[in-house]
Amino acid sequence: MIRIPQNIREIANYKPGKPAADMFDGKEQTKQAILCSNENNFGSSPLAKAAIEEALSNVYLYPDPTGEGLKRKIGEKYGYRQDQLILGNGSDGILYTMFKAFFEPGEHLLTSEATFVSLHAMAKMNNVEIKSVPMKTGYAFDLDAIYAAITPETKVIYLCNPNNPTGAMIPQKDLVGFIEKVSNDKLIIVDEAYYEFSKDLSDQYPDSTKLGLDNVLTLRTFSKAYGLAGLRLGYGIGHPDIISTMHKVKLTFNPNVLAQAAGISALDDDDFLNLTLSNNREGLQQFYKFFDRLGIDYIPSYANFVMLDLKDTDTVENTYEALRDKGVLTRRLGSFGLPHCLRVSIGRPEENQWFMTCFEEVSHTLFTNV
Ligand SMILES: Cc1ncc(COP(=O)(O)O)c(C=O)c1O
Repeated sequence: MIRIPQNIREIANYKPGKPAADMFDGKEQTKQAILCSNENNFGSSPLAKAAIEEALSNVYLYPDPTGEGLKRKIGEKYGYRQDQLILGNGSDGILYTMFKAFFEPGEHLLTSEATFVSLHAMAKMNNVEIKSVPMKTGYAFDLDAIYAAITPETKVIYLCNPNNPTGAMIPQKDLVGFIEKVSNDKLIIVDEAYYEFSKDLSDQYPDSTKLGLDNVLTLRTFSKAYGLAGLRLGYGIGHPDIISTMHKVKLTFNPNVLAQAAGISALDDDDFLNLTLSNNREGLQQFYKFFDRLGIDYIPSYANFVMLDLKDTDTVENTYEALRDKGVLTRRLGSFGLPHCLRVSIGRPEENQWFMTCFEEVSHTLFTNV
């Protein structure tokens, strides 16, 4: 038998989500709303799809390992130099590379409870411990508590802005105050997977790439606003020393040919982006009004989803199942440490409407205060 290292044995096997056709446990649904994964339910940027079709004839070739065309495009759009950029298979891919690049034995990653779950498996496989502090009221990152928990062994601090799954944002003033007082031998990761949505929703949303600090690594993705989750494309922005270190351990040929081509064209697709953002604004407002009317607690969101605080696990389970039986998929948050909360993504208008219709029906039997 091959001996499996202890840290790898301790990782729970990944439980894949069910394929779309099986999501409803075989029950036929006349109407469906898949609102569980914060995807873009308008599909993908049409310009990106056209670029993918064109690039299909090139898939016999290896991708450009430098990703120069896409980096140039990102740089032109947002004002970065190429040596500040690294590409990856989703922003997950950038995190994965970061774990390989920076940790030495005994060093840990510091973050908040109730944040992005992929961190945990990646930490485990790299023998890195994660230390987490509780969130503050409003399910937001408690930057004072994180600061107080820093020790000499803290190598990386992970901030998710806005946070998945709570939707809460760290405003400009707080982020700047925090980053400026942390010593610059700590790498601060700011995960901005929902950047396009947040920037659109608030003028207080900080762009962590513009703070001019050399110990910040920002993560962005094409999975959400540009609708390319299935293609796996993300990027990191940071000081050239951070980026060149990560390039040493990055798998050479990701992202693939199709993803690189799609990314270049997606960044030109203002029509698709604007449609996505305006739908998100309207969907959020509609949900807020609806939850206010029903007296359901929610966290104001700076992303493309809303988290509901349903107060207890049974109510979450019953609501989830009752919605699923009506063709609406939401996300339970037990794996994030929030078993009393349910997350719902913003979908197309008709999906949002279907969610509200079903939720209201369900609420009459499940919520005593409705
Ligand atoms: C906060 C956060 N970071 C990263 C990701 C992963 O994004 P990607 O598809 O780019 O790997 C997600 C996906 O849901 C997310 O919510």
